[in-house]
Amino acid sequence: MFDEEEYDSENLIVSTKTEYDAEENVLRPKTMSEYVGQEKVKENLSVYVTAAKQRGDALDHVLLYGPPGLGKTTLAHIIANEMGVAIKITSGPAIERSGDLAAILTNLNEGDVLFIDEIHRLNRSVEEILYSAMEDYALDIIVGKGPSARNIRFALKKFTLIGATTRAGMLASPLRDRFGIINRLEMYTPEELKKIVARSAAALEIGIEDDAADEIARRSRGTPRIANRLLKRVRDFSLVKGNAVITKADARFALARLEIDELGLDETDRNLLRALIEKFGGGPAGLETLAATINEDANTIEDVYEPYLLQLGFIARTPRGRICLKDAYEHMGLQPKAKPKKQMSFFEDEN
Ligand SMILES: Nc1ncnc2c1ncn2[C@@H]1O[C@H](COP(=O)(O)OP(=O)(O)OP(=O)(O)O)[C@@H](O)[C@H]1O
Ligand SMILES: [Mg+2]
Repeated sequence: MFDEEEYDSENLIVSTKTEYDAEENVLRPKTMSEYVGQEKVKENLSVYVTAAKQRGDALDHVLLYGPPGLGKTTLAHIIANEMGVAIKITSGPAIERSGDLAAILTNLNEGDVLFIDEIHRLNRSVEEILYSAMEDYALDIIVGKGPSARNIRFALKKFTLIGATTRAGMLASPLRDRFGIINRLEMYTPEELKKIVARSAAALEIGIEDDAADEIARRSRGTPRIANRLLKRVRDFSLVKGNAVITKADARFALARLEIDELGLDETDRNLLRALIEKFGGGPAGLETLAATINEDANTIEDVYEPYLLQLGFIARTPRGRICLKDAYEHMGLQPKAKPKKQMSFFEDEN
């Protein structure tokens, strides 16, 4: 079910690990107060962090979920920072054998944060090691085989597991139930994204006019990572034009060149909507079928493209598949077409 290329596309809005460059580090907020938006999540986490520190205890395990680029990794760093502990970072697909995880766990110090990105991609035998580690801070290992097999238990230091996933629904319930703190990150408002663009521009020493920041924010599909990426690309266009400060006209010009429309939709979004409207009569169409039609990976559509289209109210999920909603027809300037008939009549009107 899991496609290795889930995040490998070259596409602008897909999270690629290559983006973690030096600039990325500069842009990443280091404290809760620098972290824009997600007010409820921040307030609650601040209480739990303060309480854990007062008790002199490790923070309870935290699960962060939500679409890519909303700031899960950033928040994990901030939590460790505010707790004043070290953070060790790994990811679900990187831990291949239970021994790998055992080695990581035994090397943690008291109170440390272990961050497991894409935690829904842990394999089952590795995941089972986590159960007792999270619950009892113990490592259960079976030594030997057959009748002489014995269970040996090692004590671990008390640590905090922070898991991040784009798919909370794909976590096995024994794992999900072991997180004391579960937070869903929401898409950001254009106002919040504007703050992020302004903050990032300052950090990268880019001059930008207020309404240019506004323009980028509105087209960033609720996602800080995209806002930062668009800012950098707009800067490039503006620089080449010889402008010292990014104007609204620069932003509009660059975004048009990037084929990002007024709502932040890119070519893949538009292909998806067009296919749904023109090839499936507005749906319902199954995810896999739709993905195959536009030559995209189904996981990528589900993780990366759909959340924003759902948020806009452009599509809906039904038990029988995805359907296209009225606003999408208007945005695309397309008419709902009659559903394909079982047998096309020779005389049938094209429309
Ligand atoms: N709340 C925020 N305030 C300011 N900047 C943010 C915020 N959230 C994210 N960012 C910026 O967006 C970038 C992407 O965030 P991050 O890597 O934490 O996302 P993520 O949720 O872990 O994504 P993925 O699921 O792809 O791993 C960060 O480098 C940071 O610069
Ligand atoms: Mg991340």
